[in-house]
Amino acid sequence: MLVNSKEILSEAKKGHYAIPHFNINNLEWAKYILEEMEQLQKPLILGVSEGACKYMGGWNVVSNLVRSLILDLSITIPVCLHVDHGTSFETCKAAIDAGFTSVMIDASKYSLEENIRITRQVVVYAQSRNVTVEAEIGHIGGTEDEITSSSTNARLEDCVKFVEQTGVDSLAPALGSVHGLYKAEPNLDFETMKQISDHLEIPLVLHGGTGIPDDQIEKAISCGINKININTELQIAWYDAVKEFIIEKNIYDPRKVIGSGEIALKEKVREKTEMFMNR
Ligand code: 13P
Repeated sequence: MLVNSKEILSEAKKGHYAIPHFNINNLEWAKYILEEMEQLQKPLILGVSEGACKYMGGWNVVSNLVRSLILDLSITIPVCLHVDHGTSFETCKAAIDAGFTSVMIDASKYSLEENIRITRQVVVYAQSRNVTVEAEIGHIGGTEDEITSSSTNARLEDCVKFVEQTGVDSLAPALGSVHGLYKAEPNLDFETMKQISDHLEIPLVLHGGTGIPDDQIEKAISCGINKININTELQIAWYDAVKEFIIEKNIYDPRKVIGSGEIALKEKVREKTEMFMNR
């Protein structure tokens, strides 16, 4: 069943756990993740970046793909189909019009005022269509979709003002996590995370979930994180398995090549979900 993020995230907030957001890149990833989460009987957020959308052909392709998989695989868990880091109102509108149930508008590279203005525009469009909105404040650095940027941490007073003026459903404050691989041990600002959570009613989102040690994930959840985004770690798990297959076997059937990463990807999905939700 396709849902927006409201109910699953508010349940997570009540229960003090986090919903996994897994990025998808193609048919196989969407299928493997849906199958594994159905096995686990846990709600799921499927994240689609603009780059992944372009790769797959467009928002309509992805929306119809996920809807069809849910139908044909008889998926019964709640699935939220979410835009990851939408960079403009137009992007978010196109995804909503194609049937996405949730969007992230990421106007964090602009001034606070401009971020508020663009985010509010998305919220107004989304709300009347029962679509939920996530936004980013401060700036989460690192590398995603081959774009590298540096980080700026979020400030409590900006978060409070931002949420009041935009009406977003969830917020991703930049607090030291980065996209992609960490160059050193992650250094998250848990104190500000807790303060932001205490001042806001809405769930908080942690981006850059790859490479954050389990104890820091636990701490982040206890400081108010209810959604954790994972992308790179799934890519690496899949890639390592596929690389071994290609080196060892002389098989060129693309279904076998891509499928050789299925078990590793599913194991990673399970490991992360159990870590985030079984608490
Ligand atoms: P990682 O690639 O570091 O797991 O981050 C994923 C993410 O935050 C997607 O928005």
